[in-house]
Amino acid sequence: TGPALEDYLFETVSAVLGAHATNLTRAADLFAFGVDSLNASRIHNRIQQGLDLGGQHLSSTVVYEHPSVKKLAAYIEQVQSGEAVHKKTDQEKMLGYVEKWLAAVKPRSTTGEPAKPVDARVVVLTGATGSLGAHILAYLTASSSVRKVVCLSRAKSHQDSLERVRESAVLRQVQIDESKLVSYSSTVQAPFLGLTEEQYESLRSEVTDVIHNAWPVNFVMNVDSFDEHIGGSANLMNLALEAPWSEPATFLFSSSISCRMASPDKYAGEDFPPTTATAAGTGYAQGKWVVEKLSEAAAEKTGLPVAVLRIGQMSGDTSCGIWNETEAWPLLIRSANAIGALPVVDENPSWLPVDYAGEAIAEIVFNTSKPASAVYNIVNPNTETKWTDLIDWIEAAGVKFDKVDPATWVERLANSEQDPAKNPTVKLLGFFREFYGPAFRQPIIFKTEETLKWGPALGRTPPITKDIVAKWIGHWRKTGFMTN
Ligand SMILES: NC(=O)c1ccc[n+]([C@@H]2O[C@H](COP(=O)([O-])OP(=O)(O)OC[C@H]3O[C@@H](n4cnc5c(N)ncnc54)[C@H](OP(=O)(O)O)[C@@H]3O)[C@@H](O)[C@H]2O)c1
Repeated sequence: TGPALEDYLFETVSAVLGAHATNLTRAADLFAFGVDSLNASRIHNRIQQGLDLGGQHLSSTVVYEHPSVKKLAAYIEQVQSGEAVHKKTDQEKMLGYVEKWLAAVKPRSTTGEPAKPVDARVVVLTGATGSLGAHILAYLTASSSVRKVVCLSRAKSHQDSLERVRESAVLRQVQIDESKLVSYSSTVQAPFLGLTEEQYESLRSEVTDVIHNAWPVNFVMNVDSFDEHIGGSANLMNLALEAPWSEPATFLFSSSISCRMASPDKYAGEDFPPTTATAAGTGYAQGKWVVEKLSEAAAEKTGLPVAVLRIGQMSGDTSCGIWNETEAWPLLIRSANAIGALPVVDENPSWLPVDYAGEAIAEIVFNTSKPASAVYNIVNPNTETKWTDLIDWIEAAGVKFDKVDPATWVERLANSEQDPAKNPTVKLLGFFREFYGPAFRQPIIFKTEETLKWGPALGRTPPITKDIVAKWIGHWRKTGFMTN
């Protein structure tokens, strides 16, 4: 019990993580630290076999539900002492997080006089080191209505933060007007966003728009692992509320269509989610659902202007075809090399090239007549391309593979090389097994009528074409992600 139990769990987790455990702390979130589903299952097995649990069996999701050494120790102590622990459902947890973080959103105390400048904006942007963030940053700095963009990112120093943003822009081949760029090393869940009080005050005194776009794109983390990220969103809402203008700065949040994917409906509206049941089963989707709901509630409670950017699957940009190699669909396409097969399904994906997503989001920021509080469905409305076209165009780009049904593809993946270093697609085996399982269905159609008014770039988005597919493949061959 107590410290001895924590020591035991720390050693167990360290042993499973091996060389990756160097900087592990007892409070560290294990999934943010790199634990994957295989590691989680190994940790579960070792605890079950190594500890006296009085004959009780731990749930196979125990590591997901208690995602740090400290949290695991506290829970196992309760199991050992026989205390009845009510296991909250994910839905109860999601509502609990909305309540918890809404209490942290402070009513507006500023009674500023000047109107919010719309032609000299100071935009705070998180996630500029990522794919979409780099494109948003390019469109923001290119606009004459923007005076300054302050990027907040995790980094060793402010200089390192600037370097990281620059490197990302180079990697994605986007142009940034650096004369408008400031970049801080920041932890948005910390007091003053991890800045000094003076830096925070300076930011507060000029901010007009806050775009919260940083988020772990991680489909194995449980909703509890997103607690701190939901808290970071509440901190950024407070920054917007403390702006010195006659109205608060606008809070924009990069959400995900996954928070509506479990809905049985054929269509999803441009509205806040009606019930927790619409969120898909991943912590990622549930965390996004919570921040959508928190945004709605904060707008009602404080008058905060909010724009929920509910983003669909993004794909590589239309100029260079650069698409994150860690994402699910690039990893699926890579499996054409690794397992020599791709699945054939009957659907029309609404994948949105990331450059158009960035432009539409910038347009929404700049639009001065958009609603005070709204949800924007950021998906490609042009869905004429079929999945089978995509597969044919991958083949036309010279990639050799078998076309198989999804169940066969999942089985071939399950029987393929299991070392993620050699075959990274295998990390998402569980995700794909569920995705192509019995619940597989035609994708929900996300309505865009309202969004198109405020972000017209969305309406100009081309369908995915043969040329765009060739750009993805060409780029991945250059980076070595694809080998044939
Ligand atoms: N990609 C899609 O198809 C898609 C679809 C729907 C919604 N979205 C949303 O769009 C946004 C941007 O996604 P993206 O495609 O540009 O992904 P990305 O390239 O992986 O970028 C993610 C960004 O979030 C930051 N981030 C991740 N984990 C973090 C953490 N624990 N603490 C602080 N910052 C963290 C990253 O910073 P580091 O550089 O420090 O890691 C990076 O700047 C995300 O909110 C994502 O959920 C994406």
